[in-house]
Amino acid sequence: MSHSTQPQPMTARRSGPLKGNALVPGDKSVSHRALILGALAVGETRITGLLESQDVIDTARAMEAFGATVERVGAGEWRVQGVGVGGFSSPETVIDCGNSGTGVRLIMGAMATTPITATFTGDASLSRRPMRRITGPLELFGAQVTAREGEFLPVTITGAADPLPLRYRTPVASAQIKSAVLLAGLNAPGETVVIEAEPTRDHTERMLAGFGATVRTAITDEGHVITLTGRPELRPCAVAVPRDPSSAAFPVAAALIVPGSEIRVEGVSRNPTRDGLYHVLAEMGADLRWENDRIEGGEPVADLTVRHGPLHGVTVAPERAASMIDEFPILSVIAAFAEGSTVMNGVAELRVKESDRIDAMARGLEANGGRVEETRDSLTVHGTGGLKGGATVATHLDHRIAMSFLVAGLVSERPITVDDAGPIATSFPDFVALMRGLGAELG
Ligand code: S3P
Repeated sequence: MSHSTQPQPMTARRSGPLKGNALVPGDKSVSHRALILGALAVGETRITGLLESQDVIDTARAMEAFGATVERVGAGEWRVQGVGVGGFSSPETVIDCGNSGTGVRLIMGAMATTPITATFTGDASLSRRPMRRITGPLELFGAQVTAREGEFLPVTITGAADPLPLRYRTPVASAQIKSAVLLAGLNAPGETVVIEAEPTRDHTERMLAGFGATVRTAITDEGHVITLTGRPELRPCAVAVPRDPSSAAFPVAAALIVPGSEIRVEGVSRNPTRDGLYHVLAEMGADLRWENDRIEGGEPVADLTVRHGPLHGVTVAPERAASMIDEFPILSVIAAFAEGSTVMNGVAELRVKESDRIDAMARGLEANGGRVEETRDSLTVHGTGGLKGGATVATHLDHRIAMSFLVAGLVSERPITVDDAGPIATSFPDFVALMRGLGAELG
């Protein structure tokens, strides 16, 4: 679990039309959850299509450290022997979650109502990200928490011996907060309730139900209310991980902006808590054709054919933010190649992702000839139909910043270099090979 490697700069050059079939890897959110719920079930969970990226591998190692047996049996095929709800034991070593906010936050939740102690750490990016939003509610369950400056990793948690169930309203739209509370609620008696103002990705609820827990979701005057009955015996199950719509966004974006392109992306999620980008792209005039709607791994998916064509700027409603929270960096790139302004409001959460994504996108676009405006919680990109390029972009250990600018470089007048493409391995290890296969000049 060592993540200290030398920066790997990479350059994207103007490329011919992109053509072909893009088979993007498994969903990162679903992959983390499959390993964690597998570890909390009694018996063997079989996972297919697991995303074998660094973030997910770190979660697999963490589950072993808490006592589960995790085994890779083939490409994307994994088996987890779970220890049951409340069955985790104290890890002998520090839990290093690398770059992964989802990994560390969900695992903290999963152990916080079992009387064991664990210390969590991560890379330089994760060590700057706020953890109080997780440790706060976990303390309300009865967990004891020590954190650097009260907020940051390393964090040590001693789980509650006598946990209380919680009724918790999330202060910001965050599936990570919701999921940490629900996972902690698994080992609390009675009902744990999470209330969110805006619905966020619902993979935890879907998967908990798949493992046999009782979870109810209702839309009330209070908001989106999720109720979990504590202390279930989780039954192991077969989890088929669907493809990751957030990874699909990169080849899709490239096809939209590289003249003459037409690509097909199979099995793109149509889960309404994940598909906000595709609605916005349709509003921008993107040529998107959906076919073969079906359910895969419990998630609604369809095949998408994308063609290059003219795009115009739009205003993205803040209510859409949660359903496309990871897609704003690549949307900012698409917006730079559209005509007119794209306004992204209500996106303050972007400032606490793997990097401050508003700042990273604004600086990177400006350096390459883009025109942007930012406030604390908004980003506006004034599209001019193109970008000059020619600059090196600081990616701040953020995979999505790196992939976004490598896509931009495929069509900017001059090449664009990212200072470090290494972090792409945290979510999309085959990104470069996949993009080259479509005709992208990356090197
Ligand atoms: C995730 C939730 C989102 C997202 C992250 C994955 C998850 O974070 O940005 O990449 O799997 O629950 P927040 O819930 O903090 O918005």
